[in-house]
Amino acid sequence: MAPELEKSTLARVKEGQRIFRYDTFGDEDFWGNTLKLHQAIAGEKLGGVGPGVSPKTALSVGLKVDAQALPRDLATGLKEGKINLDDPAATLALLKNNAVVGLTGFFDEQGQLTSMGIQCSLCHSTVDDSIAPGIGRRLDGWANRDLNVGAIIGLSPNLKAIADRLGIDVATVKKVLASWGPGKFDAELLQDGKGFRPDGKAAATLLPPAFGLAGINLHTWTGWGSVPYWNAYVANTQMRGKGTFYDPRLNNPEKYPIAVKTKDWNIRNNPDLITSKLPDLHLYQLVLTAPKPPTGSYDREAARRGEALFNGKATCASCHVPPLYNEPGWAMHTPGEMGIDGFQAYRSPTNRYRTAPLAGLWTHQKGGFYHDGRFATLLDVVNHYNALFRLKLTDQEKNDLVEFLKSI
Ligand code: HEC
Ligand code: HEC
Repeated sequence: MAPELEKSTLARVKEGQRIFRYDTFGDEDFWGNTLKLHQAIAGEKLGGVGPGVSPKTALSVGLKVDAQALPRDLATGLKEGKINLDDPAATLALLKNNAVVGLTGFFDEQGQLTSMGIQCSLCHSTVDDSIAPGIGRRLDGWANRDLNVGAIIGLSPNLKAIADRLGIDVATVKKVLASWGPGKFDAELLQDGKGFRPDGKAAATLLPPAFGLAGINLHTWTGWGSVPYWNAYVANTQMRGKGTFYDPRLNNPEKYPIAVKTKDWNIRNNPDLITSKLPDLHLYQLVLTAPKPPTGSYDREAARRGEALFNGKATCASCHVPPLYNEPGWAMHTPGEMGIDGFQAYRSPTNRYRTAPLAGLWTHQKGGFYHDGRFATLLDVVNHYNALFRLKLTDQEKNDLVEFLKSI
């Protein structure tokens, strides 16, 4: 590669990393100015409202602390247990150092928290717990299955802003947010207004990883579009940053009444703080490879036998084509083909489920499998396929398949 190209590519990937980790795209206008979430974090004593959010509370709802962003005294204090983790002032100190993964605090000259925004890394990063549980080095692209997004948004002093968008009352918004639980978010709620499934269960889906996506055509559980499509969708319509987004598929009053009412299908902001960032953000995501499982985390012999089954008798590889574990082409399947209900598929313009890329599966076993975590374990997934496709797998073969899934 020409040296100039090599240099500029590296610079762009680094810029993409900055955007992924730290860029709010101007969404503090929503999370701070509108929802006033920063006031709930600071608490009454520090100029906000309510009891405030202590580091202990922040960690308990799955927020992560980037140990490398901490100044030495704060890092040592945390390691030696000398920081009062019950004090919201310590949360503000973390925010001032930009050490809460995926959250940015904005402070005035007096040191008061005046607003806050969120980043991609909030949901698609975690840490390696090297200092303490929830505190360590960043792991970009990993799904944060501890993160209780609903509980965090639920702290907002002004949920009326969301209630008004959806045309419902605040009590119902609270009920919806409380239904999500850890590791889940509902990226379609603000378009179709479906707070719950028809059977009364939560409508939210699991947070997927944002790594291992190079070579994969369609993204999200239901294949809404390419990586840059979805990045624009999320940055504009979910994080509520300030950019441009156009998708006339959402201009459909039966399927997406809220998107039609709020014009979320055709967003135009001036200035546009998103569009110019999409290319480098895309590049960064493409270089985030799925991490390999630690040695000893699976049985090698069994995994080897499982691989042969995956590619052979169990027919998994007909859809999960290695090494993408997704069909090159249009990797979409009807609910009927998958033997599951169509609630989430029908919320997407595709009306289908996308073949899940399986690399790095071992990093997101918490919260279960399939888009809504309906299968608690990998064995449950294998049992589902065994029944659906009448595979006649023995217990030993099922176990071998599971060990293979843990190895990829
Ligand atoms: C509040 C949590 C949250 C934030 C913030 C967030 N995402 Fe996501 N992301 C999700 C959820 C949930 C899905 C699955 C959506 C679905 O299938 O309907 C998803 C899906 C994705 C996917 C598809 C993954 C796959 O397997 O195809 C990519 C890529 C992605 N997000 C990237 C980003 C980027 C880049 C940003 C920042 C611009 C971002 N996300 C911000 C929650 C989040
Ligand atoms: C007809 C195509 C098809 C076949 C065959 C198939 N899968 Fe899948 N697989 C999918 C789709 C589509 C999904 C996503 C379902 C959803 O999100 O609800 C999926 C999801 C999964 C998941 C969950 C991934 C996650 O992130 O939660 C695992 C694990 C999995 N498949 C393993 C297998 C195994 C093992 C086999 C063989 C026994 C197999 N699949 C056969 C299409 C297929």
